[in-house]
Amino acid sequence: MDLSTTYLGLSLPHPLMAGASPMVDDLGTVRQLEDAGSAAIVMHSLFEEQIAREQFGTLRDLELHSNSNPEAASYLPEPNEFALGPDEYLEQVRRIKAAVTVPVIASLNGTTPSGWLAYAKLIEQAGADALELNVYEVATDPAQTAAALEQRIADTVRAVKAQVKIPVAVKLTPFFSSLPNLARNLEAAGANGLVLFNRMLQPDFDLEQLELVPRMKLSRPSELLLRLHGLAVLHGNFKGSLACSGGVHEASDAVKAVFAGASSVQVVSALLQRGPSFLKHLRTGMAEWLERHEYASLRQGLGSMSLASVPNPHAYQRASYMRVLQGWRPDSE
Ligand SMILES: Cc1cc2nc3c(=O)[nH]c(=O)nc-3n(C[C@H](O)[C@H](O)[C@H](O)COP(=O)(O)O)c2cc1C
Repeated sequence: MDLSTTYLGLSLPHPLMAGASPMVDDLGTVRQLEDAGSAAIVMHSLFEEQIAREQFGTLRDLELHSNSNPEAASYLPEPNEFALGPDEYLEQVRRIKAAVTVPVIASLNGTTPSGWLAYAKLIEQAGADALELNVYEVATDPAQTAAALEQRIADTVRAVKAQVKIPVAVKLTPFFSSLPNLARNLEAAGANGLVLFNRMLQPDFDLEQLELVPRMKLSRPSELLLRLHGLAVLHGNFKGSLACSGGVHEASDAVKAVFAGASSVQVVSALLQRGPSFLKHLRTGMAEWLERHEYASLRQGLGSMSLASVPNPHAYQRASYMRVLQGWRPDSE
C-alpha cells in the first residue's frame, strides 16, 4: 500500500512519526524510533525562557510578558530541571542528525518575536530539516485582545521565517475563536505547516493542600476528536501542511487524522506507553485498513472527510449540532 505523503515539503514514506517528547533525549531511543519506521523525528522543545536566561543571565529585565514582574522569574524551572540547555540542544540536533537518516524536526517554544529567535538560525545550522514553533500561551490579561495575541503569534512566525530557510510549522493550542482566520494570517506570515494541537495544561486542584496539581497525563483516544475537527476545518483553507498531534492510539485513529486532512500524524503517548516499536504496528494497521477498504493509496483519502467537500460548512456545522442535540435518547449512551 502506498502510504507516502508530503509534509512541510519533505517526501515521506508514510505520515507516522514520533512527536515532540523526551524520547529524543536518548540516542538509543531515537535509533529505535527510526528502526520502527518513524518517518521523521520531532525533538522536544527548547524554551524561550531558557534561551533568554542564557542570553541575558536573568529574566528580570526582560519584557517577556507584558504583565511580567520580578516574581514571574521565580515561577520558572531552574536551568538544571531542563533535560538540555540551549547549547546542549544544538549539540543534540547534531547528534541525532548523525545517528539517523530520517528528517529531524527541532522545536522552539515561545511567544514573543524577540532575541531568543536567533536560535532558529543556530538550529538550522546544526542540521535540522524543519522547525516546529510551539506558541503555547494561555491568555490571562483582560486588556489583551485576541487580535493582539494572534498578531504576536504571526509576528513571531515572521521573525523565525526571516532567520531560516528550512520549513517552519506552528504548533497551536485549540482554542481560537476563528482558527481558519488565524491559519490564513500564519500562512501570510510564512508558516509552512500547522500542528494541531498542543495539549493544554489543565491542572487539577488538591483541595486538602489548596494547591494546583499540574501533572502531565498521557493522552486518551477521545482527545483525537478535537484534532479531527480542527483538521477538517483547515483542510483546503490552509495551503501548507497539516499535522495531527494528540489522541492517536490506534491505526484507525491515524487513518481518521489523514482523512480529516493531516499529511503527518505525530504520536507520543501511545509510544511512551507501548514503546517505539508500536509505530510499526500503527503503520501496518493503516496499510491493512486501506487495503481492506480498497484504497489505491493513502493520498486518495487525504482530506476526504474534511469540510472542504461541504458547500456550506457553517450551515452544515449548525445542522449537525442541532441534529445531535435533538437526536439524544436515554439509550444513546
Ligand atoms: C512527557 C511529554 C513531554 C512533551 N514535551 C513536549 C515538548 O517539549 N514540546 C512540544 O511541542 N510538545 C511536547 N509534548 C506534547 C506532545 O508532542 C504531543 O503534542 C501531545 O502529547 C499529544 O500527543 P499524544 O496524544 O500522541 O501524546 C510532550 C508530551 C509529553 C507526554
